[in-house]
Amino acid sequence: MKKSSVAEILKSETFLQEVQLKGWVRTFRSNRFIALNDGSTIKNIQCVVDFENTNEETLRRITTGAAVSIKGTLIESQGKGQTMEVQVSELEILGDSNPDEYPIQPKKHSFEFLRENAHLRVRTNTFSAVMRVRSLLSYAVHKYFQENGFNYVNTPIVTGSDAEGAGEMFKVTTFEENKAPLTEDGKIDYSQDFFGKETNLTVSGQLEAETYAMALGKVYTFGPTFRAENSNTTRHLAEFWMIEPEVAFMDLDGNMDLAEDFIKSVLTHVLENCKDDLAFLDNRLTQEEKTKPQAQRSEMSLVEKLKFVADNNFKRVSYTEAIDILRNCKPNKKKKFQFLINEWGADLQSEHERYLVEKHFKCPVILFDYPADIKAFYMRLNEDGKTVRAMDVLFPGIGEMVGGAQREERYDVLVQKMKALNIDEKELWWYLDLRKFGTAVHSGFGLGFERLVQFTTGMGNIRDVIPFPRTPQNAEF
Ligand code: 4AD
Ligand code: MG
Repeated sequence: MKKSSVAEILKSETFLQEVQLKGWVRTFRSNRFIALNDGSTIKNIQCVVDFENTNEETLRRITTGAAVSIKGTLIESQGKGQTMEVQVSELEILGDSNPDEYPIQPKKHSFEFLRENAHLRVRTNTFSAVMRVRSLLSYAVHKYFQENGFNYVNTPIVTGSDAEGAGEMFKVTTFEENKAPLTEDGKIDYSQDFFGKETNLTVSGQLEAETYAMALGKVYTFGPTFRAENSNTTRHLAEFWMIEPEVAFMDLDGNMDLAEDFIKSVLTHVLENCKDDLAFLDNRLTQEEKTKPQAQRSEMSLVEKLKFVADNNFKRVSYTEAIDILRNCKPNKKKKFQFLINEWGADLQSEHERYLVEKHFKCPVILFDYPADIKAFYMRLNEDGKTVRAMDVLFPGIGEMVGGAQREERYDVLVQKMKALNIDEKELWWYLDLRKFGTAVHSGFGLGFERLVQFTTGMGNIRDVIPFPRTPQNAEF
């Protein structure tokens, strides 16, 4: 008899067959009914113990969290709540779980408490559902790109360049504290460090991805990125995963089409292939919404929101149009925004992005053609000389999901821009080479994977959609 997963057994249509399964006890009631979960599905299977023929010691050891191996017969269930159950003939305790010490009791725990027990929280319904959806989403990401002719590129994690020019990087060094050699002018002499230069953890694989796009045509990265920004928000992590496609001969319009098609495709994949987990998360969110005042409740359920995004066009709006809308909107006029929008050129804060998406357009929005001054050096300058071919995709409840651009492919314009921003040309000589040898229009974007998981699962805090979150003051586990 081969061991089956709970998911397989629940799909089976033949009763009276012998089954063997291994999993963890979620609950044990009346000395008879085990709710067994093995992670293969959100659903538990009920295993009915013949308590008269089971010794007391074994019964005592069937506790929440214990690992067990069960052999038995699959029968139609007598009780309500399930269609089938396993009549246990053999039960072995594989690993005990002391009920006085096990933190994950069969009751509602706060997410804060579960974050402190991140090594065990995946044993709850909510976290196991989130992590299965996360896994399926990452499969859908690869599936989409692989089926559309993209090559998967692994860009370096240790790098010498600051792709975003924001200076929010974690240093990588083998120098010991206070023992780093100094140069004549008293600065740390990185030429003697491991890599012979100053290095950091990457904030984005874009610059390296561009080099590959200029030979392979269509590429994407999907890897960890690191930002030492001291943002304690529900949407920021210090370590997060980014998906970055980069395509040669594609302009900003093509980039917007790609971002929209990509997001719709992965959401559709999850809607079709993760129904049980989504149904659970949908219900969880509905319950959570009920605790909020009426005015703050979402009009749509989680699944409705996902379908809405998958089935409707994103709204494309230029930065200039967005500023007009924001300047004249109620919260701006009534000074309800923390940062008031007075003039063209202002950087948009998350309160503005959310107003546009949640109140004004009520759908995902792609903002494009931002002022050059508030965007990164590599974005293509428009003919007006003051805006760049940037785009951000904004999502309800999340804000910025995607940031991207058509890249500056003109050597002289790029060099000028780097000079103006004090970016060392010698440091990025290889990036400039792309503009010297066979340069071409090209574009790409970065999508924060955890923000996508957040939107898909309806989880309010980004710390709850990555197994072990890294945030300021927190690197436990
Ligand atoms: O807008 P960003 O900074 O864009 C780039 O890094 C470009 N080089 C991408 C490219 O064009 N290839 O970051 C891209 C996305 C954001 O839209 C957001 O979803 C996510 O990455 N992101 C974060 N997610 C979680 N925690 C953080 N601290 C994040 N910072 C950015
Ligand atoms: Mg951005």
